[in-house]
Amino acid sequence: MSQTWDPQAYGRNGAFVHGLAGGVLELLAAQPGERILDLGCGDGQLTQRIAATGASVAGVDASPEMAAAARSRGIVVDLGVAESLPYESGSFDAVFSNAALHWVRDQDAMLAEVARVLRRGGRFVAEMGGHGNIAAIRVALSAVLERHGFGGREENVNYYPTPDAYTRRLERHGFRVEQMTLIPRPTPLPESGMKGWLGTFRRGVLDGLPTAKREAVVSETIALLTSALRDEDGNWTADYVRLRFVARV
Ligand code: BEZ
Repeated sequence: MSQTWDPQAYGRNGAFVHGLAGGVLELLAAQPGERILDLGCGDGQLTQRIAATGASVAGVDASPEMAAAARSRGIVVDLGVAESLPYESGSFDAVFSNAALHWVRDQDAMLAEVARVLRRGGRFVAEMGGHGNIAAIRVALSAVLERHGFGGREENVNYYPTPDAYTRRLERHGFRVEQMTLIPRPTPLPESGMKGWLGTFRRGVLDGLPTAKREAVVSETIALLTSALRDEDGNWTADYVRLRFVARV
Protein backbone atom coordinates (compact mmCIF):
# COMPACT_ATOMS: atom_id res chain seq x y z
CA MET A 1 0.00 0.00 0.00
CA SER A 2 1.50 3.33 -0.96
CA GLN A 3 0.98 6.62 0.81
CA THR A 4 -0.25 9.62 -1.16
CA TRP A 5 0.55 13.16 -0.11
CA ASP A 6 -1.30 16.46 -0.22
CA PRO A 7 1.24 19.26 0.35
CA GLN A 8 -1.47 21.68 1.57
CA ALA A 9 -2.82 19.24 4.18
CA TYR A 10 0.75 18.34 5.12
CA GLY A 11 1.53 22.03 5.62
CA ARG A 12 -1.52 22.46 7.89
CA ASN A 13 -1.37 19.19 9.85
CA GLY A 14 2.29 18.23 9.74
CA ALA A 15 4.18 21.45 10.42
CA PHE A 16 5.66 19.77 13.52
CA VAL A 17 7.63 17.44 11.21
CA HIS A 18 10.03 20.23 10.26
CA GLY A 19 9.33 22.34 13.34
CA LEU A 20 10.77 19.66 15.63
CA ALA A 21 13.75 18.70 13.45
CA GLY A 22 16.26 21.07 15.04
CA GLY A 23 18.13 18.23 16.76
CA VAL A 24 18.88 16.20 13.67
CA LEU A 25 19.77 19.34 11.67
CA GLU A 26 22.24 20.26 14.41
CA LEU A 27 23.70 16.78 14.22
CA LEU A 28 24.14 17.17 10.46
CA ALA A 29 26.10 20.40 11.03
CA ALA A 30 26.14 21.23 7.30
CA GLN A 31 29.16 23.26 6.21
CA PRO A 32 29.39 25.82 3.38
CA GLY A 33 30.27 24.11 0.11
CA GLU A 34 29.42 20.58 1.24
CA ARG A 35 27.36 18.47 -1.19
CA ILE A 36 24.32 17.21 0.71
CA LEU A 37 21.38 15.05 -0.33
CA ASP A 38 18.07 15.41 1.54
CA LEU A 39 16.54 11.95 1.12
CA GLY A 40 12.73 12.09 1.19
CA CYS A 41 12.81 15.87 1.25
CA GLY A 42 9.00 16.24 1.26
CA ASP A 43 7.93 19.84 0.80
CA GLY A 44 11.52 21.05 1.16
CA GLN A 45 11.26 23.01 4.42
CA LEU A 46 14.39 21.40 5.86
CA THR A 47 16.19 21.29 2.51
CA GLN A 48 15.82 25.05 2.43
CA ARG A 49 17.27 25.36 5.94
CA ILE A 50 20.25 23.21 4.91
CA ALA A 51 20.78 25.37 1.80
CA ALA A 52 20.84 28.46 4.04
CA THR A 53 24.08 27.17 5.62
CA GLY A 54 25.86 27.60 2.28
CA ALA A 55 25.90 23.87 1.53
CA SER A 56 25.05 22.71 -1.97
CA VAL A 57 21.91 20.69 -1.39
CA ALA A 58 19.67 18.54 -3.56
CA GLY A 59 16.41 16.96 -2.50
CA VAL A 60 14.94 13.70 -3.72
CA ASP A 61 11.38 12.52 -3.13
CA ALA A 62 9.09 9.84 -4.55
CA SER A 63 5.98 12.04 -4.46
CA PRO A 64 5.51 14.28 -7.52
CA GLU A 65 3.25 16.57 -5.45
CA MET A 66 5.82 17.00 -2.68
CA ALA A 67 8.68 17.41 -5.17
CA ALA A 68 6.71 20.20 -6.88
CA ALA A 69 6.06 21.88 -3.52
CA ALA A 70 9.78 21.73 -2.71
CA ARG A 71 10.76 23.10 -6.14
CA SER A 72 8.48 26.07 -5.56
CA ARG A 73 10.92 27.04 -2.77
CA GLY A 74 13.67 27.27 -5.36
CA ILE A 75 15.28 24.00 -4.35
CA VAL A 76 16.81 21.48 -6.77
CA VAL A 77 14.66 18.37 -6.39
CA ASP A 78 14.78 15.07 -8.22
CA LEU A 79 11.90 12.65 -8.39
CA GLY A 80 13.10 9.23 -7.32
CA VAL A 81 12.79 6.38 -4.86
CA ALA A 82 15.27 5.69 -2.07
CA GLU A 83 15.96 2.17 -3.37
CA SER A 84 17.30 3.50 -6.69
CA LEU A 85 18.82 6.95 -6.33
CA PRO A 86 19.36 8.97 -9.51
CA TYR A 87 22.98 9.97 -8.69
CA GLU A 88 26.48 8.82 -9.53
CA SER A 89 28.54 6.95 -6.95
CA GLY A 90 30.36 9.18 -4.44
CA SER A 91 28.28 12.27 -5.28
CA PHE A 92 27.69 13.52 -1.71
CA ASP A 93 29.58 14.45 1.47
CA ALA A 94 26.46 13.76 3.51
CA VAL A 95 23.03 12.19 3.12
CA PHE A 96 20.40 13.66 5.45
CA SER A 97 16.90 12.42 6.11
CA ASN A 98 14.07 13.39 8.46
CA ALA A 99 10.81 11.49 8.99
CA ALA A 100 11.10 9.63 5.70
CA LEU A 101 13.09 6.41 6.11
CA HIS A 102 10.27 4.55 7.89
CA TRP A 103 8.24 4.77 4.65
CA VAL A 104 10.90 2.96 2.59
CA ARG A 105 9.78 -0.54 1.63
CA ASP A 106 13.18 -2.13 0.94
CA GLN A 107 15.52 -0.89 3.66
CA ASP A 108 18.48 -2.95 2.42
CA ALA A 109 18.22 -1.63 -1.12
CA MET A 110 17.97 1.91 0.29
CA LEU A 111 21.02 1.55 2.57
CA ALA A 112 23.05 0.09 -0.31
CA GLU A 113 22.12 3.15 -2.37
CA VAL A 114 22.96 5.63 0.42
CA ALA A 115 26.36 3.94 0.86
CA ARG A 116 26.93 4.10 -2.90
CA VAL A 117 26.14 7.82 -3.36
CA LEU A 118 28.26 8.90 -0.36
CA ARG A 119 31.94 9.68 -0.88
CA ARG A 120 34.35 7.57 1.17
CA GLY A 121 34.17 8.85 4.76
CA GLY A 122 30.86 10.60 4.07
CA ARG A 123 28.10 10.64 6.70
CA PHE A 124 24.51 9.53 6.86
CA VAL A 125 22.61 11.62 9.41
CA ALA A 126 18.96 10.82 9.89
CA GLU A 127 15.92 10.71 12.11
CA MET A 128 13.05 8.30 11.55
CA GLY A 129 10.28 6.62 13.52
CA GLY A 130 11.79 4.19 16.04
CA HIS A 131 10.55 1.14 17.91
CA GLY A 132 7.23 1.92 19.61
CA ASN A 133 6.48 4.88 17.35
CA ILE A 134 2.77 5.85 17.32
CA ALA A 135 2.02 2.53 19.03
CA ALA A 136 -1.35 3.61 20.43
CA ILE A 137 -2.47 5.03 17.08
CA ARG A 138 -1.44 1.88 15.23
CA VAL A 139 -3.13 -0.48 17.66
CA ALA A 140 -6.37 1.52 17.70
CA LEU A 141 -6.51 1.91 13.91
CA SER A 142 -5.68 -1.78 13.35
CA ALA A 143 -8.39 -2.91 15.77
CA VAL A 144 -11.05 -0.70 14.16
CA LEU A 145 -10.05 -1.71 10.62
CA GLU A 146 -10.26 -5.36 11.66
CA ARG A 147 -13.74 -4.81 13.11
CA HIS A 148 -14.86 -3.38 9.75
CA GLY A 149 -13.40 -6.21 7.68
CA PHE A 150 -10.23 -4.41 6.58
CA GLY A 151 -7.77 -6.19 8.88
CA GLY A 152 -4.13 -6.02 7.87
CA ARG A 153 -4.24 -2.65 6.10
CA GLU A 154 -2.22 -0.96 8.85
CA GLU A 155 0.35 -3.79 9.03
CA ASN A 156 3.81 -2.88 7.74
CA VAL A 157 2.79 0.56 6.50
CA ASN A 158 5.92 1.83 8.23
CA TYR A 159 9.10 0.29 9.65
CA TYR A 160 10.14 1.31 13.18
CA PRO A 161 13.35 -0.51 14.16
CA THR A 162 15.10 -0.74 17.51
CA PRO A 163 18.54 0.92 17.84
CA ASP A 164 20.20 -2.53 17.88
CA ALA A 165 18.41 -3.80 14.79
CA TYR A 166 19.13 -0.66 12.78
CA THR A 167 22.77 -0.58 13.88
CA ARG A 168 23.18 -4.16 12.64
CA ARG A 169 21.47 -3.31 9.37
CA LEU A 170 23.68 -0.27 8.77
CA GLU A 171 26.79 -2.31 9.60
CA ARG A 172 25.80 -4.98 7.09
CA HIS A 173 26.01 -2.24 4.45
CA GLY A 174 29.48 -1.13 5.51
CA PHE A 175 28.50 1.81 7.75
CA ARG A 176 30.28 2.58 11.01
CA VAL A 177 27.62 3.77 13.45
CA GLU A 178 28.78 6.76 15.51
CA GLN A 179 25.49 7.59 17.25
CA MET A 180 22.16 5.79 17.55
CA THR A 181 19.54 7.09 19.96
CA LEU A 182 15.90 6.22 20.60
CA ILE A 183 14.02 9.36 21.69
CA PRO A 184 10.43 9.31 22.95
CA ARG A 185 8.91 12.55 21.63
CA PRO A 186 5.26 13.08 22.56
CA THR A 187 4.13 15.46 19.83
CA PRO A 188 1.34 18.03 20.30
CA LEU A 189 -0.92 18.03 17.26
CA PRO A 190 -2.41 21.17 15.72
CA GLU A 191 -6.07 22.09 16.16
CA SER A 192 -7.19 19.49 13.60
CA GLY A 193 -6.15 16.90 16.20
CA MET A 194 -6.29 13.17 15.50
CA LYS A 195 -8.74 13.66 12.62
CA GLY A 196 -6.23 15.86 10.82
CA TRP A 197 -3.40 13.43 11.58
CA LEU A 198 -5.29 10.40 10.23
CA GLY A 199 -6.44 12.30 7.15
CA THR A 200 -2.88 13.41 6.36
CA PHE A 201 -0.67 10.51 7.42
CA ARG A 202 -2.97 7.53 6.86
CA ARG A 203 -4.36 8.44 3.44
CA GLY A 204 -2.80 5.30 1.97
CA VAL A 205 -4.71 3.16 4.47
CA LEU A 206 -8.03 5.06 4.45
CA ASP A 207 -8.46 6.32 0.89
CA GLY A 208 -9.39 2.95 -0.57
CA LEU A 209 -12.31 2.46 1.85
CA PRO A 210 -15.91 3.24 0.86
CA THR A 211 -16.78 6.72 2.19
CA ALA A 212 -19.19 5.56 4.92
CA LYS A 213 -16.70 2.95 6.13
CA ARG A 214 -13.87 5.47 6.10
CA GLU A 215 -15.86 7.91 8.22
CA ALA A 216 -16.80 5.16 10.68
CA VAL A 217 -13.19 3.94 10.93
CA VAL A 218 -11.92 7.47 11.58
CA SER A 219 -14.50 8.34 14.21
CA GLU A 220 -14.17 4.99 16.03
CA THR A 221 -10.36 5.23 16.02
CA ILE A 222 -10.61 8.73 17.47
CA ALA A 223 -13.02 7.50 20.13
CA LEU A 224 -10.66 4.66 21.13
CA LEU A 225 -7.68 7.01 21.35
CA THR A 226 -9.38 9.82 23.22
CA SER A 227 -8.63 8.66 26.77
CA ALA A 228 -4.96 7.94 25.92
CA LEU A 229 -3.96 10.86 23.70
CA ARG A 230 -6.40 13.74 24.29
CA ASP A 231 -6.12 15.90 27.39
CA GLU A 232 -8.96 17.46 29.36
CA ASP A 233 -8.63 20.69 27.37
CA GLY A 234 -9.17 18.80 24.11
CA ASN A 235 -5.55 18.90 22.94
CA TRP A 236 -4.13 15.86 21.16
CA THR A 237 -0.60 14.53 21.62
CA ALA A 238 0.69 11.79 19.31
CA ASP A 239 2.97 9.11 20.79
CA TYR A 240 5.98 9.64 18.53
CA VAL A 241 9.32 7.89 19.15
CA ARG A 242 12.36 8.94 17.08
CA LEU A 243 15.42 6.96 16.08
CA ARG A 244 18.25 9.41 15.42
CA PHE A 245 21.66 8.36 14.13
CA VAL A 246 24.98 9.25 12.52
CA ALA A 247 26.80 6.62 10.48
CA ARG A 248 29.81 6.80 8.15
CA VAL A 249 30.95 4.79 5.17
C1 BEZ B 1 6.64 9.62 11.77
O1 BEZ B 1 7.29 10.61 11.41
O2 BEZ B 1 7.03 8.89 12.66
C2 BEZ B 1 5.37 9.28 11.09
C3 BEZ B 1 4.76 10.22 10.32
C4 BEZ B 1 3.59 9.91 9.70
C5 BEZ B 1 3.03 8.67 9.84
C6 BEZ B 1 3.65 7.74 10.59
C7 BEZ B 1 4.83 8.05 11.24
